[in-house]
Amino acid sequence: MSEVTLLSLLEAGEGQYISGEMISKQLNVSRTAVWKQVRKLEAEGYQIEAVSRLGYRLMGKPSRLSLHELLPKLNTKKFGRNLRLIDVTPSTQDEVKKLAEQGSPEGTLVIAEQQTSGRGRMGRAWVSPAGKGIWMSLLLRPPVPVHQTPQLTLLAAVALSRAISKLTSLDIGIKWPNDLLVDGRKISGILLETAAEDERLKYIVVGMGISVNLDKADFKEELHSKAISLKMLTGQTISRTELIVSIMENFEQLYELYLEQGFAPIRALWEAHSITLNQHTTLYTPQGLISGIPRSLDNLGGLSIELEDGSFRTIYSGEIGMSPLQ
Ligand code: BTN
Repeated sequence: MSEVTLLSLLEAGEGQYISGEMISKQLNVSRTAVWKQVRKLEAEGYQIEAVSRLGYRLMGKPSRLSLHELLPKLNTKKFGRNLRLIDVTPSTQDEVKKLAEQGSPEGTLVIAEQQTSGRGRMGRAWVSPAGKGIWMSLLLRPPVPVHQTPQLTLLAAVALSRAISKLTSLDIGIKWPNDLLVDGRKISGILLETAAEDERLKYIVVGMGISVNLDKADFKEELHSKAISLKMLTGQTISRTELIVSIMENFEQLYELYLEQGFAPIRALWEAHSITLNQHTTLYTPQGLISGIPRSLDNLGGLSIELEDGSFRTIYSGEIGMSPLQ
């Protein structure tokens, strides 16, 4: 059950007045305490109208994310429970790494309104304008050896794709390993960074970038045919709060499944969402270019490719086709 807060009561009122007396009863606090909470929400950018004898009503919300709105909506055990919202940072990946080194628990989440040096896979930059996208990093401490971390890359893609399609009804395809595409254009990218000592995994930072409410002008010219936002696809402004909550819930569910049952169920889900399998493909790998037909995932999350001579080769890192977000 979500926690009852002043904000959840005002939101449930859907623009109608709710009396101060009713609020103080529901929250079990004094009328003065209610008034103090109203002032606090106003300071965060909520517009609340107070009329004597009628009560309070919610007139507008800030476009910025707020802990008041996010935390009571989260129905997770660990994921997002230790949550930091930051206005501007070079990269949420570095923020979470710092917290991880200081001993922060699994599930710690850092979300930024804006990143000034957001990074993507293969050393690329990730454009992260203020207030329009979801730029966040999640700390995981799975009890698995380092060579199994590609499995979590794929798990992250399934979690995001489920959450986004639930909220927007868009048909999302996963391009190996973890790009999310709609009609061939990228809406989201995931970056996994790991810290290990020898074969012992210390922690993983899962960076997620989702182009939620970006407009065409927010993308660099050369990306116009390759990237798109959820708002451009649906014609609607999407609630970043709802999406973050849904991602955390889906991610935690799949992560628990993975810890209980291993990679097999995740692999089946990934394969069902994949747009990579059984298509002739060129892969850019650290070992050079490989051409062939990806046929399946192996037990570690690598892509098993049928080469032109009929033999098979499995790769664990690389990029399909031309780099999509240069
Ligand atoms: C990619 O597709 O290349 C991965 C993009 C990952 C971007 C996210 S945004 C939040 C986190 N912080 C970063 O600097 N990068 C990731």
